[in-house]
Amino acid sequence: MISDKIRDILNEQINKEFYSAYLYLSMSAYFSEIGMYGFSNWTKVQSKEEIDHGMILFEYVLGRNSQIHLGQISTPNFDMNSPLEVFEQIYQHERSITSAIDAVANMTEGECDLATRNFIDWYLNEQIEEEAAVLRIISKLKTFGSEKSALYLIDKELSQREYESPSY
Ligand code: FEO
Repeated sequence: MISDKIRDILNEQINKEFYSAYLYLSMSAYFSEIGMYGFSNWTKVQSKEEIDHGMILFEYVLGRNSQIHLGQISTPNFDMNSPLEVFEQIYQHERSITSAIDAVANMTEGECDLATRNFIDWYLNEQIEEEAAVLRIISKLKTFGSEKSALYLIDKELSQREYESPSY
């Protein structure tokens, strides 16, 4: 059993992960509409991973004999001016998710909940990987993105990303 405080913050995190899935899915639609199918693929794969992140939390809460409270998912909102701008917003979004995961980790320590502290380590590591992956794309876009031919090649590269179920 987990405390009510831990239950509530994990339920909030489920909502944040599903919001992330919505956000990436709407970005995928935007990229598809402007013919950037590699960017569309990358964000669609990320959307699927975010659903996995939410579901791992969902199963954990139930597995600890606690309750799921699914809240409303907000409408995704982002500026669609260029791939670089979208990815800069992705980076800011992922930083906010990292802060949210940090808050969960801090709360588990306050509640002396070592099992959930151990569980949430996977998310802390996942956030490091996600932020780094997004920063690499931003760096390429900043360096080469003003050239249409280079943008085409970055799009082609991002089309190679394949969905893999997280190894939790
Ligand atoms: Fe599940 Fe992108 O954080």
